[in-house]
Amino acid sequence: MSMHSSRPEVRSTHDVIVIGGGPMGLSTAWQLSKRNAKTLLLEQFTFFNQLGSSAGVSRQFRLPYPEEYMVKLVKQSIPFWHELQSLTPVPLMDKVGTLWFGDPAVHSTEGNIAEAEKALKALDVPYTSLTAAEIERQYHFRDLPSSYTGIFQADGASIDLLATQRTLYNWNAASPFVTILEEAPATRITQSEGTFEVVTPKGSFFGKKLVLVPGPYANNVFNLLDFSIAATYWNMASAFYKKTRPDIQYPTWFVFQEPDGTNGNEFYGFPEVSWNYPGYIRVASDFVMQPLDSPEQRTSVPNPQELAYTAQWVRDHMTGLEPVPQFTSTCMVALSKIANKELLIDFAPPHVPNHKDIVIYATGWAAKFVPLLGRILADLALDGHTPFDISPFATGTTYFQPLQAGRQKTNASTK
Ligand code: BEZ
Repeated sequence: MSMHSSRPEVRSTHDVIVIGGGPMGLSTAWQLSKRNAKTLLLEQFTFFNQLGSSAGVSRQFRLPYPEEYMVKLVKQSIPFWHELQSLTPVPLMDKVGTLWFGDPAVHSTEGNIAEAEKALKALDVPYTSLTAAEIERQYHFRDLPSSYTGIFQADGASIDLLATQRTLYNWNAASPFVTILEEAPATRITQSEGTFEVVTPKGSFFGKKLVLVPGPYANNVFNLLDFSIAATYWNMASAFYKKTRPDIQYPTWFVFQEPDGTNGNEFYGFPEVSWNYPGYIRVASDFVMQPLDSPEQRTSVPNPQELAYTAQWVRDHMTGLEPVPQFTSTCMVALSKIANKELLIDFAPPHVPNHKDIVIYATGWAAKFVPLLGRILADLALDGHTPFDISPFATGTTYFQPLQAGRQKTNASTK
């Protein structure tokens, strides 16, 4: 596939400019193009980079959530995944099921097992309840406390996020409605007579609407429009462990446990997948010992203590693996202060002129929603509303903050 970008049409006006060329931006451009909207997709680095929250190539698709509205949203995403899958012969998911297990009393960032069971039941999603002994026997874990319980939900999968992005990229590159441009960070955004001008090192571009999907680089873009999001940044560590028993396969899984001192003690993992270090499985920690104040503080070196805690857990509780972390990786996510670290889908705050012409997705883990979120963001940009219930995510009034007067005007302004 050619990595070069289509030539931008400088000074013509786009219906929508999408800022951020990760999975969400690519998906939004896909959905916009299906409505014949003239779209410009800007990526600050290169496409398929490993610098955002989508880094690490595989992601979990799962239905268990403690909130019914999240389970419903995952269900609603399924036909959109099928549509995206129809565009490529490459499987976008490996359906191995989701195993949620651990201490039933724990309420973590991902929720609580009993609450998830309740939400799955309410939405008629089939699942199996498991005891600690059943989890060990059926899913290859060992030496679990006997009080642990679990659920297995068969529709869970490991998402091939790189193939997902390539499918979306190829569609957009072939679409007469989409112009894609990489190494084009927005450095200034102004407005005049209902048109936005987005300045980049590759030129200035005009658009009637904006969709902002900059992942963890949210504030680099939001600051250009005189607001910021209250967020913390997690540079999450993961590592691949060599399988010593090629015959066993893990599901995608997540273990809920009480923190133990500095050890956040929650871990998650993936099956062996054909597209990423075959012969190995990936295990990650779902806690970060040193959150960052901004993405610029990040290094690509995973926190060694987080890796060590994870390796210890692998050694103590998993079978068929060499318990030595290899091929480490990190992914960085911006998380709002929302307790359950959810998604924020909203318009820009009201002090920004024409704020309803600026659609935003920020924070949280949303790979499982990629094709659906593109549709929702395209609806919001073109229609100002969407038939999908996004009311739980319209939390900008709480988490967006105006920039302090005088701080922002070095290279950004709104007229
Ligand atoms: C998720 O499925 O959203 C998720 C899984 C593991 C860690 C964080 C998020």
